[in-house]
Formats: sequence, structure tokens, C-alpha cells
Amino acid sequence: MRISGITPSGHTHLGNHLGAIQRWVTDGGPDDLYFVSDLHAMTTTHNPAKLRGRTSEMLAVLVAAGIPAERVFVQSDLSRELGALTWILECTCSYGEAARMIQFKEKGSGQPGVRLSLLTYPVLMAADILLQGAAEVPVGEDQNQHVELARALARRFNSTYGEVFTVPRPVLPPTGARVRNLSDPARKMSKSAQEEAGVVFVLDEPDLIRRKVRRAVTDGFSGVAYAPEERPGVANLLEILAGCRGARPADVAAEFASYGELKEAVAEAVIETLRPIRERTLELLADPAELARIRKEGAHRAAERGEHRLTSAMRLVGA
Ligand code: ADP
Ligand code: NA
Repeated sequence: MRISGITPSGHTHLGNHLGAIQRWVTDGGPDDLYFVSDLHAMTTTHNPAKLRGRTSEMLAVLVAAGIPAERVFVQSDLSRELGALTWILECTCSYGEAARMIQFKEKGSGQPGVRLSLLTYPVLMAADILLQGAAEVPVGEDQNQHVELARALARRFNSTYGEVFTVPRPVLPPTGARVRNLSDPARKMSKSAQEEAGVVFVLDEPDLIRRKVRRAVTDGFSGVAYAPEERPGVANLLEILAGCRGARPADVAAEFASYGELKEAVAEAVIETLRPIRERTLELLADPAELARIRKEGAHRAAERGEHRLTSAMRLVGA
């Protein structure tokens, strides 16, 4: 059983879709769980109203993309369970272990006003994983160290107090699955670049998608070929097209003689890939009762699934 989270620190983008959500829909097992990690989005300065809106939007996108409602939940709907388990795990974790996390050292350490939660959120992430008894956690390279921490805490808890937790292992996604920023292919497409022309959002209107793709950075080479090192912008467009079609970038390249043709094909493929998701998401967002029902269903199931682990862990630590 696998668990994956997506953080509502911005709007869902094409990279999230092709690199994660699409796979979750096609390769997901019947017990796999997906959650919108809104608590993780509070570790840096955040706007409460925006966060609430993006959380609903992201949940709607996941369901609209085809993830069954009972396998999706919002992290804060389990805040009581996760809060309790986080405390137990913090009492199983040394300060030095948390402070060694590379992401904290890069983003937080030494910054004025850095939130304590930025230091401790890998422990919350461990609680997300261990509460559900997940055996595998799909992660990008940047999260690998956090899953290693979850492993270490599970092992330590089990050997100190008694067997409660499944020891999770990280699963790395296939290489080449990173969608890059259309305006700056050196960077990955990411939610934090809100206003940028180089990020296609799942809810962008078709015309806007067309404009963003037409403006994508290419290069001065002629002809279309797949060469990620020398021609990263074009390689990114080919990877996007291949991702939309379930094909291979090098095969797709052979179809095109010019960048103009390639861009039109990429724009159309992205528009058609996202169209049904966008339409269904907008329907869901216009139906708060249905969205609330979906939210309740997933949260209830996830809370039930984790309850015996939390109860056992509490008892074993002496509470
Ligand atoms: P991250 O901080 O890694 O972007 P997110 O919450 O944004 O985490 O991502 C949710 C999922 O989307 C993760 O599985 C992540 O690997 C994937 N993802 C994020 N950005 C991209 C991208 N540009 N290309 C492919 N996959 C991506
Ligand atoms: Na749900």
C-alpha cells in the first residue's frame, strides 16, 4: 500500500498532473491513499483564505482526474490523529536528526522568523505515512531523506516500545518524469512560480494554455530532435507531448519538422488532456455539498484505517 501527498501551496500544474496525478490514476492500487497536505503548506508564511480555497481546488482536481473519492482525503481532516502521532514521533526523534534535514538547512536554518514547524514537518510527514501503515512512499529526490527519517522512526519505535508501525520504503519515480518551466527549462515546473508564463495550470483556459506553449523557450537549432542536454526547452515540449500521449519523446520528435508545428501539437495535446479534468473540477467546485461529502468520506476512511495504530502507540509509550 502506498501513500502520496500534494501540497496546496499553489495551484495544481501540468507537472503535478503528468509527473504524479496521472500515474496515481493509472497505476494506483486499490488501497493506495492520496492526500492534500494542507498542514504542510503552513510551514512558511501563508494566507488562510487562499490555503482553504486551494485545498478544496486540489481535492476537486484529484477526484476530477479519476482518483476514487474514498481514497482521497485532506490532511487537516485528520489533524487530531496526526497531531497526536506527531507528538509521539517527536518523542522518538532526536533534535539533531531533525536539524540535519537538507530541506530545512536550505530553506529555514538561520532565517529570521523561521517557523518551528518547518523544522518538525518531516516528523508530521512520518506521521502521515506511519498512521496509515503505508509500505511504500513514492518520492522525488528532494523528499527521499524525509522518508528515510520515517523509516528510522518506525524502526526505533518498534524496537523500543513494541511492533506497531510498518517500516516504509521510498520508491523513486521513473527518470525523465520532471516537467520543466516553459520559460526557463533549467527549473522544474512548480507551484511556487504563481504568476509565471512558464507554468501551465490544470485550470488554465485553453487559450491561455495555447499562448503559454507558443511562448515556450526553444533554441537556435533547426529541425526537431530529442536532446535533453543540448536542447532542454525542446526536450521538455517533447516530454510533455509524450506524457500526454503515453509515448516516448524520441518517437514523438520524428513527427515534426519545425518548432511551430511541435508547439501547436503540444498545445492541443495539453488542452485535450486537461479539458475533462478542468470541466469536472469546475462542476465539483460549484457543488459544495458534493465536495463536502467527498471530503468526509475519505477522511472517515483514513481515520478508521489508522486508529488502531495510534491507540496502540499511545498505550505503549505510557499514555
Ligand atoms: P513538490 O514540492 O515536489 O513540487 P508537490 O506537492 O508540488 O511537491 O508535488 C506533488 C507531486 O507532483 C509529487 O509527486 C511531485 O514529485 C510531483 N511534481 C511536482 N512538480 C513536478 C514537475 N515539475 N514534474 C513532474 N512531477 C512533479
Ligand atoms: Na475523500
